[in-house]
Amino acid sequence: MTEQNNQPLSLPRIGDPAPDFEVSTTHGPKKLSDYKGKWLVLFSHPADFTPVCTTEFVAFQEIYPNLRQLNTELLGLSIDSNQSHIAWVRNIEENFGVKIEFPVIADLNKEVASKYGMIHPNESTTEANRAVFVIDDKQVIKSIIYYPLTTGRNMDEIVRLVEALQTTANHQVSTPANWRKGDKVIVPPPATQEEADKRAQDNQYEVVDWYLTKKSLD
Ligand code: BEZ
Repeated sequence: MTEQNNQPLSLPRIGDPAPDFEVSTTHGPKKLSDYKGKWLVLFSHPADFTPVCTTEFVAFQEIYPNLRQLNTELLGLSIDSNQSHIAWVRNIEENFGVKIEFPVIADLNKEVASKYGMIHPNESTTEANRAVFVIDDKQVIKSIIYYPLTTGRNMDEIVRLVEALQTTANHQVSTPANWRKGDKVIVPPPATQEEADKRAQDNQYEVVDWYLTKKSLD
């Protein structure tokens, strides 16, 4: 693929197959296909031994058990060496008493960061920004979030996003603003006038208007 400023011309987008990788991590070699059948949160951070990233790593570890309950794995990445990652996660354990249990990719040659569009050259050419890719169990990209170097991510939102994406995948529904697990979901709008009339009479639905109908999943 032709590259410009370290960026592939065609960046992965929602709905695309996740770009393949075969990498070295703090847990040994990993490849994308190792995650088939599971959801994956692949995230990048700018650099080891930096303040915001350190707070994020502690916070990512805190949500890791919740993610695992959602059949979802966590995989970090930065343009640092495996030795640096190992030293940093040991330092985090010493300073915070938090053992980092998820693997971290050593992407020193920027191969994965470039493929996934994690380097935004007008922000930094040497660091990945704070990207989050949610990849489903069929290895399709379901969501992409980018945060700048200076803003730590909200872990509740990452868990909420995975729960919302899985709810959509399992029930063919959408989720409204600020939806939390257990809240009503949005059903697709009716395709015909007859369907719209029928829906208005159906007790299982909360019909706000014909195009905005909610229902409980329980
Ligand atoms: C940080 O994690 O604090 C950080 C990393 C790179 C640039 C700016 C902030």
